[in-house]
Amino acid sequence: MVQPTPLIAGNWKMNGLRASLPEARAIADGCAGSRARVAICPPSLLIHEMCEELAGTSVLVGGQDAHWETSGAFTGEISAQMLADAGARLVILGHSERRAGCGETDAIVARKAQAALAAGLEPIVCVGETLEQRQAGEALAVVTGQVRGSLPAELAGRAFSVAYEPVWAIGTGLTPTTAEIEEMHRAIRATLTELFGPASDTAPILYGGSVKPANAAEILYAAEVGGALVGGASLKADDFLGIIRAL
Ligand code: PGA
Repeated sequence: MVQPTPLIAGNWKMNGLRASLPEARAIADGCAGSRARVAICPPSLLIHEMCEELAGTSVLVGGQDAHWETSGAFTGEISAQMLADAGARLVILGHSERRAGCGETDAIVARKAQAALAAGLEPIVCVGETLEQRQAGEALAVVTGQVRGSLPAELAGRAFSVAYEPVWAIGTGLTPTTAEIEEMHRAIRATLTELFGPASDTAPILYGGSVKPANAAEILYAAEVGGALVGGASLKADDFLGIIRAL
């Protein structure tokens, strides 16, 4: 079976000012030679300057969301084409903070993924169950349902990744057991194969939620884990590099 190239992406969320650009530079300098692809997804306003800061390094810059339309009367929104124009190469879509806080449904996430592909961006599509859903034994059904609903057919043959992020593990310091992560990642892999065929074996399935240097090796070497989506620990070069070097 083809192994995906691992992807380790930092999600800076609503953190970071222009003064944070040297931190991105330190990440790029420290991860040269990593066997993972490394990406940083800063707030949109930093994308252009971060691309300039990281020019000539292997670190990719990504967005955290994109609208499904290319342009138009959508006050406050940013399109995938605009992110690409600013230098972004990837975009996080359907993060649970947007699903919960901004009402994003699977159908909206799928439209955003179509727009991202049309703009030449590589989507990182996020899925994950709440604590209530896990406690009710619904985690596998919820997450595989999100995969089916959020990934458009256009992804076939294109570069993309799925990030499994249990909502209860994000920013809490809690993580599922390795067995729980492997069970979910295997279920996501089976769903991807069903939807897109064996060609999708090259799409990494990332784990996200309280990844830090101390737990990175165990998570990154778990079966079917093809990298990580890292929030808090991606803001400081030392922490993020500790995760990248665990691979
Ligand atoms: P965390 O966030 O690493 O701070 O838990 C992960 C994410 O939300 O992508």
